[in-house]
Parts: sequence; C-alpha cells; structure tokens
Amino acid sequence: MTAAARFPEHPRHLLTLRDWSAEAITALLDLADALKAAPLAYRPLEGKTLAMVFLKASTRTRVSFEVGMFQLGGHALMLPAQGSQVGRGEPIEDSARVMSRYVDGVMVRTFGHEEVERWAAAATVPVINALTDRYHPCQLLADLQTCREALGAGRARPWREVTVAWIGDGNNMAHSWIEAAAQLGFALRLASPEGYEARADIVAHAAARGARLALTRHPAEAARGADVVTTDVWASMGQEEEARARAAAFVGYEVDEALMALAAPHAVFLHCLPAHRGEEVSAAVIDGPQSRVWDEAENRLHAQKALLVRLLAPSWLPPSFSLSAEVP
Ligand code: CP
Ligand code: NVA
Repeated sequence: MTAAARFPEHPRHLLTLRDWSAEAITALLDLADALKAAPLAYRPLEGKTLAMVFLKASTRTRVSFEVGMFQLGGHALMLPAQGSQVGRGEPIEDSARVMSRYVDGVMVRTFGHEEVERWAAAATVPVINALTDRYHPCQLLADLQTCREALGAGRARPWREVTVAWIGDGNNMAHSWIEAAAQLGFALRLASPEGYEARADIVAHAAARGARLALTRHPAEAARGADVVTTDVWASMGQEEEARARAAAFVGYEVDEALMALAAPHAVFLHCLPAHRGEEVSAAVIDGPQSRVWDEAENRLHAQKALLVRLLAPSWLPPSFSLSAEVP
C-alpha cells in the first residue's frame, strides 16, 4: 500500500506487544523509518510532556526517550525512585491520577508487570512500559527496526522467512521476542538452561496464536541457519544476588564466534545492552562484523519517537507518509 496512510488501530498504551497487531507494529516501524530519515524536521509534540518513572537503572531508555521528546518539540521529565513519592510507596493509582493532570504521557520502568498495568488502568494519559520483569516492548521495536534494515526483514525477506535464535535466559527480552514472533510470524528458537526457560504461560499463549517457537537446551540447535542471533545478560536487574548461581547455570550459553559460524552467513548479532563480554557474548562477536548492536541502540530513539507520536499526537503523520507494502 502506498496510498495515503491510514494508520492502523492500536491500543492507547504500550504495555506489551501482545496487544499490538502486526499491521500496527509494521506501521509504527514505517513511521520510525520516516522519523529516522529526518530527525529534526517535525515538532508534533510541541507543548507536550512525558514523565519518566524509573524504579530501575537505565542509560539507553532514559536518554532515548528524553532526546526523542526534545527532538519532537516536547519535554521529558525524570521521576526517579529516589527523591519522589513514587519510590516511597505512594499508591500507584494516586500517582497515576495526579500525573495525568500534569503530563501527556507516562513512561514507567519497574519490577512487577502488574505495576505498569495499574498505572495504565488509573492514568487518563497513555502509559509506556519501558521494561518490567516480564517484558521490554520498546527494545523489541528497535530490534525489529534493525532487522528490517539489516536483513530486509518484513520487506524483501518476509518475516515468515526469518529465523531468530534466542540464546540464554528466558527473561523479559525473551518474552518480548516471543510476542513479536506471535505477531509477525518469524520463527523463534529459544535455547535456555533448565530452570531458566521463558515462562510457560507466555510460550503457550503465543503458540496458541500460531507462533512458530522451538525450545531447546542446545545453543547450536537454535543458532543453526538462523538469520538473527540474540542474547541478553544472565542476571537481569533485580537478580543481582542470583548472579553467581546463574553464571554456573549458563556455562556453554555464550554467543561466541563458533556459535555465530553455525548461523546463516548473513546473520546479524543483536543485544539490547548493557552487555557482559566473556559471559553471554564474546568480545569478538559483539565487537565483530556481524554485530548490529550500535544500530540497534540508536533505533531505540527512532522507534520510540514513532511510539510517542502515535500515543501523544495520534492525528499527526509526516507529510507524504506512506505505509510499506509488506504486512506479514
Ligand atoms: N536496553 C536498555 O533498555 O538499556 P538501558 O537499561 O540502559 O535503558
Ligand atoms: N534483561 C535485562 C534487560 C536490560 C535492558 C534486565 O531486565 O535487566
């Protein structure tokens, strides 16, 4: 479709990709590409403010949302756990109601996924999940944009012909890859050690919706012939005390050159960052020719700008914007 763009329907919030259709995700990525091509050309968020609630640390998420709001003509403000009432136990519902009187959107990074659901239920403005223990949908938007750029995924190479290998912990990133696979139709193989698999209910929900998932204990099985090899830290934020036990459980799960050699010759390596060289990924891979991690990190900015525009100024689209032909 190259006709005048009519953006597909999508939810008022982004809590998980489960709620966003393939058409809406694809259109969002098209918008991200358009904004990437002209980063300072548009100011559709003039006068709008985003509150950024962080109960966990962040570099990329904080900077990319703040810069994104600025580039779109709006403003972002930081509400860290320390120094705010949010971090002192004020009820989420009270915070959400009050914030809705001041700002046009709230971005939340926290622990329990139920917390962002409570923010969304009580707020009268859009709420964006900027990572919970269960999901990291904003990262997936950037990862999908990077796959389109690096592999022509969803374009010359339809998503159904793409295979992604997830190596390591069945964590928030793995869960968001699973939800993206359910929506877009790419094959996803997950290799995790016993006890660290992706949540069974999330796998079952995706499988019931036709997701092509393969679960294995063997990284080589997952990586063989894959177009994308991706991983994440072995101990996520909040799991610091488990780090030693996890390091022992994940022996053999490092993405190294030998594992990458099993993937397709054109395969790319992705990692949401921060990374631990010598643990989940070797320096040779993350700093090597197949790594796309810096483009991936940059795309956080472009993909989230598209998201901010959709949620905070949904009637706006760039002039002569058109949706891509390929919807999986
Ligand atoms: N990938 C990611 O979310 O990075 P930060 O924790 O630095 O925000
Ligand atoms: N799984 C990691 C991702 C960090 C961006 C964590 O939750 O800490």
